[in-house]
Amino acid sequence: MKIGVFDSGLGGLMIARAIHDHLPDYDLVYLGDTLHLPYGRRSKETVYRLTKQAVTYLFEAQNCQIVILACNTASASALRRLQQTWLAETYPDRRVLGVVVPTLEKAIALGHTRIGLIATENTVQSGVYEEELHKINPDIKLEASATPLLVPMIENGGLKYVRPVLEDYLAPLKDKKVESLILGCTHYCRLSEEIKDIMGAGVELISQAEITPPSLADYLHRHPEHNDKLSKRGQVDFLVTDLTDGYAQSANSAFGRPADLQLVSYNI
Ligand code: DGL
Repeated sequence: MKIGVFDSGLGGLMIARAIHDHLPDYDLVYLGDTLHLPYGRRSKETVYRLTKQAVTYLFEAQNCQIVILACNTASASALRRLQQTWLAETYPDRRVLGVVVPTLEKAIALGHTRIGLIATENTVQSGVYEEELHKINPDIKLEASATPLLVPMIENGGLKYVRPVLEDYLAPLKDKKVESLILGCTHYCRLSEEIKDIMGAGVELISQAEITPPSLADYLHRHPEHNDKLSKRGQVDFLVTDLTDGYAQSANSAFGRPADLQLVSYNI
C-alpha cells in the first residue's frame, strides 16, 4: 500500500518532493485536483466534498493506506469532519493526516509568542489555526492574514508582479512584530525568498516542505501498524484531474526533476 499526498493543485509537489527526499524508499502517489483549483475561495462544503472524493479515490483506486492533506485549505475545511465521522465509519483502518497541527508544533517549539500566518481566505476564515493553537498553548498569539491574490498570481505566471502585493499583505504582520511566519498554503513555498526578504532576517519562516517529512517519519515510527503495510520500492506517481502543457512544465519545476503527470478522473 502507498502514501497519498493530496493538494488542490501542484504546489504540494514541493512537499511531495521533500517527503520523497526524506523517505526515499516509500511509494508515493501525488494527486493534484487541478480541475477544481483554486480551493481557497470555495465554500467549506465544496472543499469538504472535493476532498472526500479525492481521498476516496486514493484509498480505492490507488491503494493508499495513509493520505496526507498537504493542502491547508482542505486540512482546514475538511480534515476534522473526515476524521471524526466518515473515516471512522468507512475506512477505520486507514488514516488521513493534515498539516495544521505539525506546523503549529514547529512554531511553538521555536519558543515564539507572536506567530504570523498567511493563507487562503478559506483557511484564515476557518479559524482552525487559532483553535488548534489555543488547545496547545493559549498564551501564544496568532496574527493571521488572508492573501487571496497569491495563488492566482503564482498559477498564472505572475511572479514578476508579486512583490508589491506581498509587501502590502505582509505590512500588518511586520507592524505586529511577529517572530515567525507560517507559510500556510502549499503554493507559498515558491515565494519564500521574497517573503524572507520583506519580513527581514529576524523573522523565521515556517515552511511545510521542511516540517511535513520529519513529522510523517515520526508518525510512521510511532505507528508500525500502518508503516508495516506500506510498500517500499521508491516509486512516485503523479496524478492530476486536468492536464495542460503549463501544468506539465510547472510540475517539473515544483518537483525539481521530471514529474510525469497522468490525467485521472473519478466520480465518487
Ligand atoms: N493548496 C492550497 C492550500 O495549501 C491553496 C491553493 C488553492 O486555493 O487551491 O491552501
